[in-house]
Amino acid sequence: MSPALNNGARLILADSHAHLIDRKFDTDRKEVVERTGAEGMSLVIDVGYALDSSRRSAELAGQAEFIYSAVGIHPHDSGEAPKNYLNDLKKLAACDKVVAIGETGLDFYRNLSPQDVQRRVFREQLALARELSLPVIIHSRQAHEDLLRILRSDKVGPAGGVIHCFSGGPEMARECLEMGFYISFAGVITYKGNSTLKAIAASVPPDRILAETDSPFLTPEPYRGKRNEPLYVRYAIEEIARLRKMPAVELSETLLENTRRLFGIK
Ligand code: NI
Repeated sequence: MSPALNNGARLILADSHAHLIDRKFDTDRKEVVERTGAEGMSLVIDVGYALDSSRRSAELAGQAEFIYSAVGIHPHDSGEAPKNYLNDLKKLAACDKVVAIGETGLDFYRNLSPQDVQRRVFREQLALARELSLPVIIHSRQAHEDLLRILRSDKVGPAGGVIHCFSGGPEMARECLEMGFYISFAGVITYKGNSTLKAIAASVPPDRILAETDSPFLTPEPYRGKRNEPLYVRYAIEEIARLRKMPAVELSETLLENTRRLFGIK
């Protein structure tokens, strides 16, 4: 990390994916939200992962101007989704400042829900996003082939979506871009190694790239090992700017614009 990037110009910070509703923020959520706003965060998309967290996320969006919300069932939680969860998601999606369906997708790394249930719940949420004309936030971990197969057959609507915390290879990136997706990079991009991911971050078209924290998880260097929070998106932004050989301030403006465009935020 070059300290020079921090000097003078102020980065405009947009975090396209955070979980401020996670229990790891239960003791000091208010302080974290206040600090995030006070230090000039422009935009945070807070993302639910089950009905309860989605409900709390929609509520949280009402408590700070810069927070917007996404509602959905994470693949880990898909096995626990109640029968009528789609109706509940639909109601939540109608709330003020709810701008996306997600996160949803497939996770065959931890396999916390049966794979066939993950596929079904993912496809149902893709259909819901199409019906509501909302973008979809997609999680894919060691399930890329299945994920692409579903996306090829089911398609996303014109509102599009994002592959969050991208972990695929160049072929997957190319196909996702062709399908109209944005690609989002988390703090993982600051870790040593992973030249494939760094090369992809350097080459995604400027109007299709996003940055995120996925906080409280995936804390970037230099805070790796500590709890992550939205303000730390600056470390992903600085690393992506370094990889793309451009000023971080210029990239940060582009990222805010992209995040607003995808989620339909004025
Ligand atoms: Ni997440």
